[in-house]
Formats: sequence, structure tokens, C-alpha cells
Amino acid sequence: PAITFIHSGGNTDHIEASDGESAMQAATRHGLDGILAECGGNAMCATCHVYVDDGWLARLPAMADDEDALLDGAAAERTANSRLSCQIKITPELDGLVLRLPERQV
Ligand code: FES
Repeated sequence: PAITFIHSGGNTDHIEASDGESAMQAATRHGLDGILAECGGNAMCATCHVYVDDGWLARLPAMADDEDALLDGAAAERTANSRLSCQIKITPELDGLVLRLPERQV
């Protein structure tokens, strides 16, 4: 499945993710700037914060309580579109997913 990441400055990166990996894993595997993922995907750091594009938000599984709590501590402003990219599991249905990157992760 293809994922588009839009950097805070407006540049875009299109990457090909694998089914079953997280959006964070796909990003770091491709060396994408803007996702730090300091905790390695364990929902403990909030440095993989993304803003999900409006059209995709409702198509993602609901967030768990630990993700919800951690997002309150994200470095950049939390919005209604905020998610942790390590908690977004890529499936074929998410082909074309668009994620915006915050200005900073720490
Ligand atoms: Fe640490 Fe997502 S990688 S919370």
C-alpha cells in the first residue's frame, strides 16, 4: 500500500509500505525525515506523531487509551487528526493513506 507523507514545509514523500507493518515502520525503513520513533513503536514516546488527512481519519481503527494519553504529551500541538504512526497498522484498505508531519517531534 502506498502512503503519502506531507512534511510541515509542504514537501511530499510517497513510500510503499508492506501489509502488517506500521506507518512508522514504513517511514523509518525508507529513512523519512520527520518521524523519530524513539521508543521503537511501543507507544511510549510520541515522537512518531502524525496528522491524518481528513478523508482518512474515520477509516482508521479507533485509538487505544495509551495512544490517547501519550498524544497529550506530543511536542507539536495535538489536533483532532493526531495519531501515533506506530499504532497505525497498514492494510490493503489503507492504500493511498495521507499523513501530515508535525513541525517537530521533540
Ligand atoms: Fe514511540 Fe510511536 S514510536 S510512540
